[in-house]
Order: sequence, then C-alpha cells, then structure tokens
Amino acid sequence: MESRVKTRQDAPMDFRGQVFLAPLTKGGNLPFRRVCLEHGCKVTMGEMAYAYQVKKRSKSELALLRRHPDETCFGAQIAASRIDDAVFAGKAAAERGAAFVDLNCGCPIHDIVKRRMGAVLLQKPSKLGELVAGMVKEIPVPVTVKIRLGWSEDEQNASEVAKVVEESGAAALFVHGRTREQRYSRAADWESIARIASERSIPVIGNGDLLTWYEVRDRWQQSGVASVMIGRGALIKPWIFREIAEQQAWEPSDVERLGVYHDFAQKLKQHFRDDEKGKERAMRFLPWHFDFFCRYRPLSGERWEAAAKQHPLLQTRFADDEADLSVLEQLLRDPRPELHQRLALLLWESADVAEAEQRALQLAQEMPPVAGEVGEVATAQG
Ligand SMILES: Cc1cc2nc3c(=O)[nH]c(=O)nc-3n(C[C@H](O)[C@H](O)[C@H](O)COP(=O)(O)O)c2cc1C
Repeated sequence: MESRVKTRQDAPMDFRGQVFLAPLTKGGNLPFRRVCLEHGCKVTMGEMAYAYQVKKRSKSELALLRRHPDETCFGAQIAASRIDDAVFAGKAAAERGAAFVDLNCGCPIHDIVKRRMGAVLLQKPSKLGELVAGMVKEIPVPVTVKIRLGWSEDEQNASEVAKVVEESGAAALFVHGRTREQRYSRAADWESIARIASERSIPVIGNGDLLTWYEVRDRWQQSGVASVMIGRGALIKPWIFREIAEQQAWEPSDVERLGVYHDFAQKLKQHFRDDEKGKERAMRFLPWHFDFFCRYRPLSGERWEAAAKQHPLLQTRFADDEADLSVLEQLLRDPRPELHQRLALLLWESADVAEAEQRALQLAQEMPPVAGEVGEVATAQG
C-alpha cells in the first residue's frame, strides 16, 4: 500500500518517520497544539469530534475540526458508528484543511461505546471494515484508524482488526498498546505493537508510555513501527518533540518552564480573546493542564535509561528526593487543584514571565508548596 499521499496543502503526507501528537480530548486544544508546534511537533491531531454532532452542525463539534494555519500537517479525529455520519464529518474536516481523518476505535468511555462508537468497533471487525471502506471511498484525504489491542485481555484481536483496516483502504494504523479494559493500569505492550507492525504493509504507528527521547528511540528501533505517537508525555512536557528531534533532553529550569506555561496562557488569550468571557473559557483548560505539567521531572538518561528499559517511566512513581529545590520548582510540582487554579489565573493576568515569577513567589508564601509525584497519570480516555 502506498504511504506517500498528498495532503490538502499538497505537501507530501508520509506516515513514516513521524512523531505524532496523539488525539487528546480537552488536552489537545488548539492553543496547546500551538505550544507543541513551537517545541518541534510536526504532526498534530485534534480532539475527537462526534461525527453525528458534526452532521447536526453543532458549533462546538465543528470547532474541534478547526486547524490553526501554523499546523501544516493536522489530522482530525472522529468517533462514528455510521458511514454517512463519518463521511460527512470527514469531508467537513478535509474542507477545513485536515491532512488526514482518523477514526477512533479505542475510546473506552461508557457513553461512547453505548452509542456503538470507539472501542466497541474492535468487537465487530467486519462492521469496522465497512465503515472504513465507506470513509475511504468518499473522503478526499487519507483515512487512518486508531485502535487498542482489543476489548479485554481475553479478547485481543488487534491483528485481525489491523488486517481488516488495511484491506479496507486505510492509509495508516495507530496502535495504543493496551486493551479497552486495561485503561492505563499497566505498561503498554510494545511486543504486540511490534507484531502488528510486522504483519502489515501500511504504516503502523506505535503508541503508549513514551516520556523521554531515549524511550522513544528504544521503542521505535525495537518494534520496527513506522512512526510513534505521544499522548501524556506531551501533556507533561510539550517540548518532548524537540528532545526527540535532537536526541537529547532539554531540562528547562523552573523559570523556563514558567515561560512555556505563560506562552500557553498567551495563546489561550489569542484563541478565546482577552476579556472576561475569554478568561472564563481559558480557565476550563489551563488549570486542568497543570495536573499534567506538575508531573514533570528531569529524567536524565544517565540516571534513568537503565530503569526505563525495565519499566516505562510514565508508569513509574518517583519520590521527590532531590535536595534544595527552589520555591518556584516546588510550586510547579505541587499537585493541588486549588493551587493550579491560582497559577493559571496569575499566568493569564501577568504581562510577562518576570511578573508571573514574582506573583508565583507571592503565591508560594500564601500556599506553601506540598510534594507531588510523577507517573501513572490515570485517566479514563483513549
Ligand atoms: C486526557 C486524554 C485524552 C485523550 N483523548 C483521546 C481522544 O480523544 N481520542 C483518542 O483516540 N485517544 C485519546 N486519548 C488516548 C491517547 O491518544 C493515547 O492513545 C493514550 O494516552 C496512550 O498514549 P500515552 O501513553 O502516550 O499517553 C486520550 C488520552 C488522555 C490522557
């Protein structure tokens, strides 16, 4: 199967050799994707949109298909159970500049599977095949499919599903190496991802537990996948794309990280507008992001590479045993939601990073920091 395809922008779209930002409901908002772009991300993906809502022309759902002009290679993700809905939403995404359209077959959430979308499609490979073939026929950009390994440990049918996906004409396949039932409870199974990659001729993109450039390098090499996809790793450190490109860690100082978060706040402002309503909307996102940002730890290869080969660092809990952490560093690691609210507000209100730093230090006096942990970012998504 040919993997070099033309995008809407007429640049060659190659599903090989890429590092994809995973589709992330809530997290993959447009301002956050712009932060990732600034830190070396080349292929972004949007938040999952319900195809049937797009067909009803729901404004909020159509907004999820929107691409920023800086996103030169943007994939829209949809959840669908019917061909006509999927085709309508896929065309709408292509018209808005999506380079490819991805069908979600991994979402474990009850509300979604109840509507016969997401991971439930794994249980019906022939229905999935019809859906994909119907999309490929009508949508003018490449169609991809994102799957998990199966519904449950006893129902791991990803090889069969992958075959159906390829035969239905999909341009590439994303594999999140866990089952629907596992959620994030255990390490992603890269051996199964490797097996699926070896069985297929369309590009298979591996996904699960990538947090450091050396884990990406090892997983990529050992599994033989065409490309990799990063989810929580990007939410914790959006600069992971730069690290992968440069094959070395960037260990930003506390002030440098505050700078990244301040830049994010500015991008939220540009997106939602700098007024009370815009602030209210941005505050639905920025404090939420701190639940991931606060898990950042410098994980130097010298100290952690060997451990990472045994168990993914994203699934490992770390004690905060570093001595002499600055007050600002402690604040940025603090896991308390009420503190995240305050940090988000001060970033929104500060004219520059210096002001944000000064206000953060004041905040630390009012709310003395408590220790946090990285790892096991449990979530119901995906
Ligand atoms: C907050 C959050 C939201 C997610 N939303 C989606 C989604 O909309 N569509 C999807 O296919 N996967 C979604 N996922 C799953 C990720 O795309 C990815 O497959 C999963 O997190 C495993 O990759 P990771 O270990 O790099 O995080 C989500 C994950 C998280 C943490």
